[in-house]
Amino acid sequence: MSPNEARPPSSPDRIGYLEQVTHSPDDTQRLGTRIAELARPGDVFLLMGNLGTGKTCLTQGIAWGLGIKEYTLSPSFVIVRELYGRLPLYHIDLYRLDNLAEIADLGLDEYLYGNGICVIEWAEKGLELLPREHLLIEIDYLADTERRFRLKASGQRYREMVNELKGQGVNATGH
Ligand SMILES: Nc1ncnc2c1ncn2[C@@H]1O[C@H](COP(=O)(O)OP(=O)(O)OP(=O)(O)O)[C@@H](O)[C@H]1O
Ligand SMILES: [Mg+2]
Repeated sequence: MSPNEARPPSSPDRIGYLEQVTHSPDDTQRLGTRIAELARPGDVFLLMGNLGTGKTCLTQGIAWGLGIKEYTLSPSFVIVRELYGRLPLYHIDLYRLDNLAEIADLGLDEYLYGNGICVIEWAEKGLELLPREHLLIEIDYLADTERRFRLKASGQRYREMVNELKGQGVNATGH
């Protein structure tokens, strides 16, 4: 067993892994804002979590962190929203799509491999079509105002990003 495997999966020391519990929508938005401050052109953030766990709330924070002021909650039939701040933000919501063919038809590559930031809600629906290097953010409902965010980096770029977030004191306990 390698030293990495010896650590429990939720260990805060695991490279490219960060866990944080938020205690309010504001708290979740702040996490999004911190992520946005470290974002670079071409970044892809995949959000996974059940209905109402806080994916859009986090995205709102990301938008604010990119200097996008006019972010409002969109009607759910909008699949791709383009917003412009320090970098473009492509907010993609796959909720209403039923299969991979429908997702392939969206022609997401111009967003995914462009110079903006892609944030994708319900990414699990299209995982096979999405870049292998990404920051995966899994969200769990813990209680009415409590959500757990697990950030998992795939690829060096995102490992560095998670490392920077840890350096800012965003740690396993969220304090
Ligand atoms: N700690 C928390 N973090 C985020 N949202 C919270 C928290 N506590 C309560 N909430 C509430 O949970 C709801 C989350 O809604 P949000 O639209 O962000 O979820 P979602 O994951 O995007 O849902 P959907 O699957 O419908 O897209 C909001 O009403 C928000 O106020
Ligand atoms: Mg949503």
